[in-house]
Amino acid sequence: MTTTADPRSSTGTSREPLEQVRRLVTEVPGPRSRALQERRLAAVSRGVGSTLPVFVERGEGAVLLDADGNQLIDLGAGIAVVNVGHAQPRVVDRVQQQVADFTHTCFMVTPYEEYVAVCEALVRLAPVDGPAKAALFNTGSEAVENAVKIARHATGRDAVVVFDHAYHGRTNLTMAMTAKAMPYKKGFGPFAGEVYRAPMSYPFRDPEGMTGEQAAARAIAVIEAQVGADQVACVVIEPVQGEGGFVEPAPGFLPALAAWCRENGALFVADEVQTGFARTGDVFACEREGVRPDLVTIAKGVAGGLPLAGVVGRADAMDAVHTGGLGGTYGGNPVACAAALGALEAMADLDLVGAARSIEERMVPRLLALKAQRPGIGDVRGRGAMLAIEVVQTEGGVATLAPDAAGAAAISAACHAAGVVTLTCGTYGNVLRFLPPLTIEPALLDDALDVLETAVLSALAG
Ligand SMILES: Cc1ncc(COP(=O)(O)O)c(C=O)c1O
Repeated sequence: MTTTADPRSSTGTSREPLEQVRRLVTEVPGPRSRALQERRLAAVSRGVGSTLPVFVERGEGAVLLDADGNQLIDLGAGIAVVNVGHAQPRVVDRVQQQVADFTHTCFMVTPYEEYVAVCEALVRLAPVDGPAKAALFNTGSEAVENAVKIARHATGRDAVVVFDHAYHGRTNLTMAMTAKAMPYKKGFGPFAGEVYRAPMSYPFRDPEGMTGEQAAARAIAVIEAQVGADQVACVVIEPVQGEGGFVEPAPGFLPALAAWCRENGALFVADEVQTGFARTGDVFACEREGVRPDLVTIAKGVAGGLPLAGVVGRADAMDAVHTGGLGGTYGGNPVACAAALGALEAMADLDLVGAARSIEERMVPRLLALKAQRPGIGDVRGRGAMLAIEVVQTEGGVATLAPDAAGAAAISAACHAAGVVTLTCGTYGNVLRFLPPLTIEPALLDDALDVLETAVLSALAG
């Protein structure tokens, strides 16, 4: 099928829209990408990795055009960032206008309306009880750091509770909060103190039949014994874990934890950096079970690809900090705020919540059919357009819990070679995750799923 993305000019120029099709004209990566990779290896720290060393020249909708002229289907969306699609016209138009008006004053020096308008939108959207307020930053890690600062001020306590498999970022405090050592933490300590880890609800790996309430009781027992209920400033949790393996806790887990926080004077912080902005088929993932966090951290999908992050939460907690205690030179940059206003408009106008649910309806039956054919797919999980398969070793044609990271890597590599950008994740590196732009066209998604199917059938034994 040769449909195109939104026909409005996305660049202010009259060039042709990028056709929403996969098309390979060289091997992947092609010669120009390989040459650029040579330059990169000579100039860029090897500490910064890339999943797929294909150099991008243009992106539109769910298609990336690389330096060799290949058109790839993007099932990563820049790690859950361009929910509104690449070069979303509403984002492009507002950014172009804002760049021409002014690019920076520092909100802490002379403020501007765009910052206020984004906070107004966040306050309106966030699933928080009572009056809410927000503050803006640059990255998800920074948002999480600031949520902890706010929680400590609001409660007068120090301890931060996080979970197994959690990912909260790469700054010093958020490395402490992140679970996985390689590559995020190894050799980078010592880490910030007063961070405590509790067991997560992980239905695929928990004892069979364990309910969300039972998993919450297990976590609460650890918190009460090892931290003390009256020491906890906040419990920070991803409603669906991202880098840790797209782990969706059993129903009842999040509400029970939120209730425990309320009863014990701790703040419940939902880290919605990856799950937010329609990704899971709700504006925020917490909404699915009616959970009302005290604070929500946001980033990624809020601004259609520009760096913007924030904390939105109960006004009394957000106002607990003295004036000047929160901020930063670039936090809530006007160009990023303009992008966010465009992205939020697109989320509503294009019904991206509905689009994420449609993606789930289209993908899950295909993934389950693959699981039926290949026992190495131990689990199919996730919600909306945040879906994953967990690849495990088999014994006598039956799935075990032993992770198969090599199998996941082989599937991913085959997808890349065929022009589909896929990502892996998980504590054991054995989870393939799918995060398409929510605007992906059904035919393009079907093509990507065909590629995935071929990759799975050839990489895993029947
Ligand atoms: C749940 C969650 N929190 C925090 C972060 C850190 O965000 P950033 O990479 O923008 O610092 C991420 C990034 O993947 C994330 O998924």
